[in-house]
Amino acid sequence: MRIEHTQLNARGSAVTLCENRAPTMSEWIEARRLGCEIIAAVEDRAAIIAQRNLDPAFCLPAANWAPDAPNDYLDAYRLLRTLDWNEVRHLRLRCQIFSGFSLLHMRTSRGLQSTFAVPKDLHIDPEPPTETLDYWRLLTQGLPTRRVFHPPCALGEIGWRIDDGVIMNYETCVYQERLTLLHRSGILDWLEQLGRPPRILEIGAGHGALACALMSTFPGCQYTICDLPESLLFSGLYLTLAARQRCALLSRVAVPIQGVIELVPNYLFEDLCAAHRSYDLAINVLSMSEMSEVQVKCYGRGIAAMLGSAGVFFEQNHDNRPVGLGFAANVLTDVFPTFREIVADDIPLTQGRPHLWSNAKSQIS
Ligand SMILES: C[S@@+](CC[C@H](N)C(=O)[O-])C[C@H]1O[C@@H](n2cnc3c(N)ncnc32)[C@H](O)[C@@H]1O
Repeated sequence: MRIEHTQLNARGSAVTLCENRAPTMSEWIEARRLGCEIIAAVEDRAAIIAQRNLDPAFCLPAANWAPDAPNDYLDAYRLLRTLDWNEVRHLRLRCQIFSGFSLLHMRTSRGLQSTFAVPKDLHIDPEPPTETLDYWRLLTQGLPTRRVFHPPCALGEIGWRIDDGVIMNYETCVYQERLTLLHRSGILDWLEQLGRPPRILEIGAGHGALACALMSTFPGCQYTICDLPESLLFSGLYLTLAARQRCALLSRVAVPIQGVIELVPNYLFEDLCAAHRSYDLAINVLSMSEMSEVQVKCYGRGIAAMLGSAGVFFEQNHDNRPVGLGFAANVLTDVFPTFREIVADDIPLTQGRPHLWSNAKSQIS
């Protein structure tokens, strides 16, 4: 493994690949161990579903994540599953499957493949695009500094270093938008006032950027990610190597360990429910809009049970009916008949309209 050292960037504010922090040998060994476990969770999936008589309609990737969908996540996964440092070090450049934005090409991913080769002399404009920078400023205006997302300078993160050393690119804005909406809806203040580390469940976490942001806002919190195991390989490696968080893949649901991010393959979601887990906040962003109705319903019911009367579900998804997929809010209306609130805000949104759902009238102002 060739380890590159931090160098001063000679090109104004642009952050290039050569600035990325390389892991220590022990971090790398730990990440590879976790990676091997996650790959086994992909390979054992069919056998586990059969042995445990689980519902394939819920457990297998479906809709936009079906193996024959026009989504090249399996190609991106195949690169990463080599667990070769030369692939893993570019993980962030393979994440267009999650955000619809190619960091490698600094534009929307339409027409691009996740697996394009990374040029040795990857060019980055010396200045950030004005529109992106203006949006980031709008999102962070008046925000407490602890709620500003700082993407780790690792695993292919590139962009432009701005205020307080934040690496800014379009995706920084995407995840900052989530954090800003969670802040403006009062959820982050409410979690802070609980007087104990909050318990957060995220379904479909992509490469784990929001988990990274929330773990630094609430160190020691109990964070569970439930996702397709292919995607857990992205979040597991990112959170271990870039965010330097401790992660554990669950093959059986056990008592949560504070400060350790739990990675749960989606086909074990029922186990979380059966263990009567309890969460303060559940999150689903840009993900239920890409699942089948069966999956959304099942997650909705499970989340409702695990939130009890006090927890809240933050959900932000597009109405994807025009492209032959679903509209999660319609399904969730039946699951949460008591309380639904559209998170109103004056910021223009990159993603769908956010909602808060809960079993009782929310105590969050
Ligand atoms: C478009 S990405 C969005 C990721 C992340 N929330 C974000 O905003 O970057 C959709 C996410 O949903 C996940 N997903 C798809 N089908 C799923 C399922 N059946 N169960 C859990 N997660 C699923 C994908 O693996 C991926 O992480």
